Amino acid sequence: MTQQSTVVAQMRQLIQLLAKHNHAYYVMDTPEIEDSEYDQLFHQLKALEEQYPELTQPDSPTNKVGGKALSKFESVTHAVPMLSLGNVFNAEDLFAFARRAEERLPNQKIEYDVELKFDGLAISLWYENGILIRGVTRGDGETGEDITQNVKTIRNLPQVLTSNETEIPTLLEVRGEVLMPKSGFEKLNAENEAKGEKIFANPRNAAAGSLRQLDPAIAASRPLAFYAYGIAQCEPNHGQSTMSASLEWLTQFGFAVGERHFICDNIQDVQKAYEQMIIDRPSLSVEIDGMVIKVNSLKQQQTLGFLSREPRWATAYKFPAVAALTTVENIDWQVGRTGTLTPVARLNPVAVGGVTVSNVTLHNIGEIHRLDVRVGDTVSVYRSGDVIPKVEKVWPEFRPVETVEIQLPECCPVCSSPVVMPEGEALARCSGGLYCAAQRIEAIRHFVSRKAMDIEGLGDRWAESLLHLDLLKDVADIYSLHEHREKLLTIEKMGEKSVQNLIDSIENSKKTTLGAFIYALGIRGVGETTARMLANTFQTFDAIRHADLDALKKTPDVGDITAEWIVDFFQAPHNLEVVDRLLAAGIHWDAPIAPTRQPLNGESWVITGTLSSMGRDEATQMLQALGARVSGSVSSKTKCVVAGEKAGSKLEKAEKLGVPVMTEQEFIIFVQQHNG
Ligand code: IVH
Repeated sequence: MTQQSTVVAQMRQLIQLLAKHNHAYYVMDTPEIEDSEYDQLFHQLKALEEQYPELTQPDSPTNKVGGKALSKFESVTHAVPMLSLGNVFNAEDLFAFARRAEERLPNQKIEYDVELKFDGLAISLWYENGILIRGVTRGDGETGEDITQNVKTIRNLPQVLTSNETEIPTLLEVRGEVLMPKSGFEKLNAENEAKGEKIFANPRNAAAGSLRQLDPAIAASRPLAFYAYGIAQCEPNHGQSTMSASLEWLTQFGFAVGERHFICDNIQDVQKAYEQMIIDRPSLSVEIDGMVIKVNSLKQQQTLGFLSREPRWATAYKFPAVAALTTVENIDWQVGRTGTLTPVARLNPVAVGGVTVSNVTLHNIGEIHRLDVRVGDTVSVYRSGDVIPKVEKVWPEFRPVETVEIQLPECCPVCSSPVVMPEGEALARCSGGLYCAAQRIEAIRHFVSRKAMDIEGLGDRWAESLLHLDLLKDVADIYSLHEHREKLLTIEKMGEKSVQNLIDSIENSKKTTLGAFIYALGIRGVGETTARMLANTFQTFDAIRHADLDALKKTPDVGDITAEWIVDFFQAPHNLEVVDRLLAAGIHWDAPIAPTRQPLNGESWVITGTLSSMGRDEATQMLQALGARVSGSVSSKTKCVVAGEKAGSKLEKAEKLGVPVMTEQEFIIFVQQHNG
């Protein structure tokens, strides 16, 4: 083989592997490898392409960053119009929808296909002989915009259709929705917030903003996903007779469909599925705004046809709106661990979607100005899914007469140091550093938190008193607290026993993991996962501490800006001094274990109910250590459910679906056997 063909063969192999793992992750919901391993494969491919750009394969997933920035999108007329759905909002409307269908299908049994109503953007994908030719937005339903370049950057979307079982259609037009999964949305916003960039109000806006980028490189950097919900055209015909079977048919080519969908025998069961979904909605990975109810038989769909621009065979069953009006009583500025000043609106408490909301973040001064929110204003507050409450808008018509525009404070509300806001950044900061008690206390709380050094009691109970007694100037002082027993005993409610417990807990924390220690340091941008990745990649603390920018940027999960923050952290003399004192105090860990193949790799497990001998987090860690993924919801793909006391609907569902169930005792034995 020539060198060229070896490189091409390597690239093809990597592309196939990446496509396989994307399919396992998004479509089958059973990832076989860690995200970090996926990223390694991706980086390997990218490195090869950088070395041999001329050999880059047209369907490479890195190529998803391909094309040039456009000056505008071209208009495309849909061959089959993209119509809309009628809405129902309650059981009565739903039953009326079913009655109308029954009347047109006399003496026929109707089955319903119940799907998630994705809250994203509808698009149409056009494949010729298995190759993705074009992606178009819904637009006005007749004409949309050609967003092919951006669509090609969506990771879970097949650019080339392959199947072992079925002939590839000569023409296939797939309809579905582009979304930003909740986890990706939160990560994107956190990163943007840290960088002082635009924060998106909800995943839908984030997805829309990403798809409408003229520069595909920006779209490529956004965590988008595509979920199919229909076939507009297929030649030759796919031969399926129901809606649900046609979606299942699509999955064999690598398309993802909703993580939940059901077939209901009657409309009463549809109502039950809808009620259950209102409960399950927060545990879904994507944002939905209702369910879509479709007559399952494609033949019946044809008979029912359309009324004006809506199908008679389908309707959207929307969730109740979760917004409410209230008034702003005050706006406070909170100082975070890294000194960022975050405005928080204190509200007259109001029930929104089942929870009482009395505080809501306003993110930054830019957001305050955008909303023009003032003390005394009436605002609507909304919650979508489980996402934190937000101020949607201010009602100027209800504004009291004498209100004043909110300004950024000049001095930190905690330590009075000047507030700074570097040009081009959205976030203001207190310049007091560790002089500022708010920053010091947050740094300590973070350091002792469970996923960091795990020192029980210190964060929530004693930190403030210890700070006032001048016993804690920085986190390293924690390890000399045992020298100050007498002073500790002067703290209210701190008896001999609490002092001993605290000292023991501090002593026990010295044995930790490299990942937890890195996380505990509170480096800007370094969350728990990033810290673990750093530990796995560099293996020793010294290697991380001395890593240069380039090496850091190559680490999975470390972005360019975070890499700079890590370097900055280890260049600051104060930080180095604290780190050295921590290590001198005896903090230690075993060498991180490089990831190997694990017995439960790729399996999805669910823990439900109350476990008596351990917490849920502990059980989750045990499963993760064996390679399993722990999910919040039971589906037919769940490998096993661990059921503790008072297990409820998840246990019922597992039994219904025939998913194996373990008691806590069985689980402990199982883990021991696997670890033995
Ligand atoms: S089927 C004839 N299924 O809802 C229309 N639509 O108002 C058939 N949507 O913009 C549409 N999830 O993007 C269908 N599971 C689902 C859906 C879904 C979300 C959106 C769709 C459209 C809107 C219809």
